[in-house]
Amino acid sequence: MNNFSFYVPTKIWFGKGQISHLSELSESGSRVLLVYGGGSIKRLGIYSEAMTILKSAGLEVFELSGVEPNPRVEKAREGIALCRANGIDMLLAIGGGSVIDTAKSIAAGVCYDGDVWELIEDSSKIMAALPIYTVLTLSATGSEMNKNAVLSDLGRSVKASMSSDLLKPKMSICDPTYTFTVSRRQTAAGTADMISHTFENYFSPIRDSYLSSRFSEAILKTCIKYGPIALAEPDNYEARANLMWASTNAINGIAKVGAEVGWCCHPIEHELSAYYDVNHGEGLAIIIPRWMRHILSDATAWKFAEYGRNVWDLEGGDMEVAETAIARTEEFFYDVMGLPKTLGELDIGEDKIDLMAANAAPSLKKAFVPLDKSDVAAILRACL
Ligand code: NZQ
Ligand code: ZN
Repeated sequence: MNNFSFYVPTKIWFGKGQISHLSELSESGSRVLLVYGGGSIKRLGIYSEAMTILKSAGLEVFELSGVEPNPRVEKAREGIALCRANGIDMLLAIGGGSVIDTAKSIAAGVCYDGDVWELIEDSSKIMAALPIYTVLTLSATGSEMNKNAVLSDLGRSVKASMSSDLLKPKMSICDPTYTFTVSRRQTAAGTADMISHTFENYFSPIRDSYLSSRFSEAILKTCIKYGPIALAEPDNYEARANLMWASTNAINGIAKVGAEVGWCCHPIEHELSAYYDVNHGEGLAIIIPRWMRHILSDATAWKFAEYGRNVWDLEGGDMEVAETAIARTEEFFYDVMGLPKTLGELDIGEDKIDLMAANAAPSLKKAFVPLDKSDVAAILRACL
């Protein structure tokens, strides 16, 4: 088990009705920039509920709406200008990962002299950030309790993240009832995303971080049990609540302590999103089984077998269990959750594969099995 540090300053208010705690924002000042997406929070009534609480707590609310999935750097720049013009004290994101990441980027960008994209190129330049508060409406990214913010500059076909402890939200409200209206497609994609966050840490060469591995398996089993229930019964509180807490824990750091390893499927998926504006979770669901098959060997079968035995209750020798576990993963994504299986289904062909592989490869040197650009190209070709 490797040395580690673990620091999460985010206060979570979990459960029905916890939005009343938005009154606590007054601890951070009086002027808040509310960031949201394409309008789901208005349709769901969360917007008016939040406004009533904020106003009765004496807060002055400014707004930045229209954040798109795969959020754009241009929107963050717009928010930074709004903050500067209005002396904003804090950010409040109400939405999914795209909205939260935009708010985080604004919080850091407003405290930085240069352009916000420079913080993505070099996160050590993040020296301060305004306080960040979130109300989560979609279980997937874990941004509500982590240090990352992912932005896209689609004009240059780049999707990348900034990362800093200063981006960890001060408080997040996680009310599972807000996710009852998340579409089938987005519920499936979000489940694939949280599974992928767990895999990225679980498939590690460190063999003795026992607790982290068991913790990861509990998250995986939670996704496998409750993902299909949430699809069949969107307003099943038990399913939505367990998925919400799983998504938060998959990427708040707790599941990787002592076994940290370079991520693999995410850098590859970010290339798909950068060039084709792909839904993040759908891109991951296509890549994961191909990545698994590509790295399965006598040297790695032990970890896949651990996954098969502890998550899928399989029995047998390592290689046999490993292969069946990968097949079960495919069945879960494509047959049970209805996620797309091939890049062809997303109208993506061969033409940019070598380019995307060359872009992703430098980030993959510290992965469970380090990959070069020919590996990535082979994985992507298998996805076609
Ligand atoms: O825009 P609105 O109207 O809010 O609609 C959104 C959006 O269209 C909708 N939605 C959200 N909550 C809803 C709802 N619809 C009905 N009912 C609700 N309660 O869902 C759509 C997708 O929202 P989005 O925020 O884009 O989804 P998600 O949470 O999956 O975020 C994806 C983004 O986060 C990044 C991804 O790359 C992608 O850009 N990630 C961020 C991470 C992080 N910060 O740590 C880690 C992840 O690996 C990921 O890369
Ligand atoms: Zn992800």
